[in-house]
Amino acid sequence: MEYLELNNGVKCPAIGLGTYMLSPADAENSVREALKMGYPLVDTANAYVNERAVGRGIRESGVAREKVFLSTKLWPSEYENRHAVEETLSRLGVDYVDLLYIHQPAGNWLAGYRQLEQALREGKARSIGVSNFEGKYMEELEARWEIAPQFIQAEAHPYYTQKELRPLLDKYGIRLMSWYPLGHGDKALVSEPVFAALGEKYGKTPAQIILRWHTQMGFAVIPGSKNVEHIRDNLNILDFALTDSEMAKIARLDRGARYYHRTEEQLAQFAAWRPSFEKE
Ligand SMILES: NC(=O)c1ccc[n+]([C@@H]2O[C@H](COP(=O)([O-])OP(=O)(O)OC[C@H]3O[C@@H](n4cnc5c(N)ncnc54)[C@H](OP(=O)(O)O)[C@@H]3O)[C@@H](O)[C@H]2O)c1
Repeated sequence: MEYLELNNGVKCPAIGLGTYMLSPADAENSVREALKMGYPLVDTANAYVNERAVGRGIRESGVAREKVFLSTKLWPSEYENRHAVEETLSRLGVDYVDLLYIHQPAGNWLAGYRQLEQALREGKARSIGVSNFEGKYMEELEARWEIAPQFIQAEAHPYYTQKELRPLLDKYGIRLMSWYPLGHGDKALVSEPVFAALGEKYGKTPAQIILRWHTQMGFAVIPGSKNVEHIRDNLNILDFALTDSEMAKIARLDRGARYYHRTEEQLAQFAAWRPSFEKE
């Protein structure tokens, strides 16, 4: 495995399993199988309503807790809930997480961020991060944090490489964890001829070439899948390296095009919504 060194000295694996839109049953299955085949990182969130299932998958895998880099996110409805961190840990069935994010710059996000800082100080989170804090939100956070985050989780893939955000991240050693790393299943991205050609050269699938590009960009990457073959393929990307000129070819695909366009109205809706957490 390759690791990213975080700005607080913690090491984070470069590849993990994403669990967005996985039902509890699928999440439990994917997490168990992924950990059994050697995945070192799992990403979930309050809002995915599968944290209990992710916890079950970890326990069923038989992999020791300290061998799993577990990442989750507080949803805005929880930012002012003083028990949010404890309740999240209890759903997951763990006494700390390796990475705790606030999921959206919505509602009283500063209260949420203060909870992350507190969790870090108390050892309930080994690292902290913000998700979807691009542009003005990252600047507002920079003016107010007591502790700089270790991560931002944001949309990133060869069509959208977060060029504008990255100088601020570099200034503080904040790492990017890419979401929608494979374009959320978009056939156009995966079918770009450059990935087929490089796949042929290295004996890899186009998806594996894209994931290797992420790790060589210095990003942590968390492809989502409920297909065990894909889950296996997505981990199997570290036995080759793209050359500088191949990385440059892929860079030419960057057209500043995101899949997900969030509006201020949506942020207000996010602040008003509360996940119906799994009961058991
Ligand atoms: N912070 C946020 O706001 C936010 C937002 C979105 C996502 N995320 C995180 O980022 C993770 C990744 O995003 P995502 O799952 O939405 O999108 P993604 O990883 O870009 O794409 C997932 C899609 O790609 C397919 N796929 C996966 N591996 C493949 C392979 N080797 N070959 C071909 N197809 C493959 C999956 O289908 P199969 O199931 O058939 O493999 C699924 O349809 C999420 O699970 C979540 O943890 C965070």
